[in-house]
Order: sequence, then structure tokens, then C-alpha cells
Amino acid sequence: MTITTLVFDAYGTLFDVTGAARLAAATPEGAILGDRWPLLAAEWRRKQLEYTWQRAISGAHAAFDVVTAEALDWALEAMSLSAPALRTRLLALYDELPAFPEVLDVLTNLHGTGYRLAILSNGSPRMLASLTAAAGLQALIHDLLSVESVRVYKPDFRVYAMVEPALGVKPRQVLFISANGWDIAGATRFGFNTAWVNRTGQPMDRLPQGPKHILRDLTGVPQCL
Ligand code: LAC
Repeated sequence: MTITTLVFDAYGTLFDVTGAARLAAATPEGAILGDRWPLLAAEWRRKQLEYTWQRAISGAHAAFDVVTAEALDWALEAMSLSAPALRTRLLALYDELPAFPEVLDVLTNLHGTGYRLAILSNGSPRMLASLTAAAGLQALIHDLLSVESVRVYKPDFRVYAMVEPALGVKPRQVLFISANGWDIAGATRFGFNTAWVNRTGQPMDRLPQGPKHILRDLTGVPQCL
């Protein structure tokens, strides 16, 4: 079946989740971070994902805005950073995370070639609208699908199942693109064609079902089509 629709994960795939801590470290309220910003970024992201899985398994859903703030609070406390102004700055920057350098060009070309582009993300509708607007991607990505419609997090199949009714396409017509190996494992098992964006040379996740394609960044997407 011909692929007509490209569905992107958001965080880590289109948008650099380390951007908030990196940019905050360059502000007056972030000066206390110094060269520890990469550790804060990593711990924040790690806890954020753990909390989504925990909430999905236990049926205790809360929106990604809440989970993201709770994970940040854990990470700040773990690093003995009690800094309300820094916390406020980090959360504001998380709504305007930088897109990876190749994103605008690649999406512009794919959109121009006639592919339908969508996001399927844990992010809340507000967060996804803010991210795409800040990166100037609104005109390219028409469909922002948020887990808030089903109130459970990836990789629960109810999330991937949102695509067919929302976009009117069968899973085999979709190329799902994510930098998160566990997300790719779920999406492949669900039935999507998948491309794993392995930007940092990570080992393959030991999970059932690997990706159909492995890319270094999004410039490889056209070769999957
Ligand atoms: C998302 C997370 C998994 O955007 O990166 O859904």
C-alpha cells in the first residue's frame, strides 16, 4: 500500500528536548545551572517519560503539561536546585523548544511533494500548538493529534489507533517517524511503517518489533517513501 501520510512524534523527533535547559542556562535565572544543564535536561526527560508510562499503566492520566512540570520538580530537587524563577523559565522554554536544524526544510519539501503531515504526541493540544507556532511549522503540519483525546500515553495502542479515524488512512499508508525507540516498537507492533531517527548513535532498544527504517536525522525520510 502506498504511503500517503507521515506521522511524526514531537519531542526528541521534531523538537530538541534539551533546548529548554540549554537556553535557560544562558539566562540570568539559569546561571546556577552552569555546565550542569545537560544533566538537568536528561533527568527531566527520563522522569517525564517514566511518569507517562506509570500513569498509563495505572490508569491515572494527567495531561503532559502536569507530568512535565512534576518531572521537572523531581529533577530540580535531585540536583538541589531550589529556584522558582528558573523553574518558570524552563517551563516557558519547553513550550518553544527549538526544532532540529533540518526540520523546516525537510517538512517543506515533503509537504510540497503532496504528503500529508501530522504529529501524534503525548503533548497536550496547547503544548503542540505552541511548539509548532514557535517553530513556524503550522502551515506544514495540519493535524496535531494529542493523546488528550484518549487520555492515555504512548505506547498504549489507543494512541496509535487515533490516526485512522482522524486522518482517514489505514496504518499501512502511514510512515510513523520517532526518535524514541520504545515509541517505534509500539508503532511497529501496531502496524505502521516506521522510521527510527537515531540522532545520537543509541543502541537498538531490546523490545519486540524493531523499526522498518533507521535514520540519522529527518533528511533520510524521503528515501523511506
Ligand atoms: C511525544 C514523546 C513521546 O512527543 O516524545 O509523544
